[in-house]
Amino acid sequence: MEPIILSIDTSCDETACAVTVGRKVLANVIYSQVLIHKKWGGVVPSLAKRAHEERIDFVVEEAVRKFMRYSKNNHQSELESRIDGTGPHTHAPDDYFLRNAFRFIDSIAVTQGPGLAMALEVGMKKAKALALRYNKKIIPVNHLEGHIYSPFAQNSTGNPERKFAFPCLALIISGNHMDIVLMRDHVTYEILGKTVDDAAGEALDKAARMLGFGYPGGEVIERLAHEVDNVDEYHFPRPMLHIKDLRFSFSGLKTSLFYFLKKMPEDEKFQNIRKIASSFQEAVFETIVKKTEEAIKQTGIRNIIAGGGVTANKHLRKKLRRLVKKHDGSVLFPPYSYLTGDNAAMIGVAAYYKMRKGIFVQDMDGFDRLPRFSLVNSA
Ligand code: KG4
Ligand code: ZN
Repeated sequence: MEPIILSIDTSCDETACAVTVGRKVLANVIYSQVLIHKKWGGVVPSLAKRAHEERIDFVVEEAVRKFMRYSKNNHQSELESRIDGTGPHTHAPDDYFLRNAFRFIDSIAVTQGPGLAMALEVGMKKAKALALRYNKKIIPVNHLEGHIYSPFAQNSTGNPERKFAFPCLALIISGNHMDIVLMRDHVTYEILGKTVDDAAGEALDKAARMLGFGYPGGEVIERLAHEVDNVDEYHFPRPMLHIKDLRFSFSGLKTSLFYFLKKMPEDEKFQNIRKIASSFQEAVFETIVKKTEEAIKQTGIRNIIAGGGVTANKHLRKKLRRLVKKHDGSVLFPPYSYLTGDNAAMIGVAAYYKMRKGIFVQDMDGFDRLPRFSLVNSA
């Protein structure tokens, strides 16, 4: 049987723990902090740290409990849970229960970076404590590897089956990242292009804020754009599209929205808010599609995989599907919605392929968070 991995991710504003066997997700718990950060318009590191600290024991124990329940009766409806809350959720773990469960768990995976230093620290401290207490090895995972492997996560019965095909181009489209990565094999990464300023999700979040909506904004923009059939009424500038390299830039687009809104009378803004949101989203997505097409042309690789919060967007999926169809290629997205945003299941799946390459933490004392961890150094 494939190894059973308990994985932890606390890189940003979700406290997450999962138990996976190979690519199969047996238990997945995500404790979202979104309600805490919403009123500040973005993630506040010190609040994130405190919330992670308050919840980490509970989240780990909950994931282990689901895994044990699964092992007993294969009851799948119990497998996933998402908790949105603001209050503390401290829970003293029952050592006897955990000791028993860890007899079945082979290794522990944890996100080492990139992310908020203060937040990463909480998950890593927990992983180390569990590893020492139950005598397990740690697999260090880059958060971006998680997003890259997220299209290959399966439910507990092994669906969807999906096969890896190398080489492939991996798109990471999230709140903090916008990368095009070339993978020639498992756990090898070559960065072909990334953003020089804002990430795609960050651009959508900032636009949403300028339009008077809260954080995070990607989902709201998607809904507004859908209501006007994704029209591109205002045709905002497509940054870096004229350059044939694979770098992205979204901050100029954001600035152009700012001045556009400044010039527009309030009532006109109000009347056209859907069209504005839609045009902005179109500028972001067309840039992603065009740069992906450029990467396909430059490399001749037509297998695309895509992960990260923004890949939840149906319109973006449609545009990328249309692109690969044109090039006779394929694209894979995370198969379940909980896998698009931050979660630990994807960390467990990536960890499985790292483990197969023998990548474990050797020096536990020197094992430290890497807030700017590069993918290239993760293999
Ligand atoms: O992957 P993720 O949860 O966090 C990072 O690792 O950054 O991505 C969060 C980002 C946010 O910017 C959020 O606005 C965006 O994903 N997002 C979406 C949608 N759902 C979340 N963007 C566009 N359409 C969506 N439906
Ligand atoms: Zn992420």
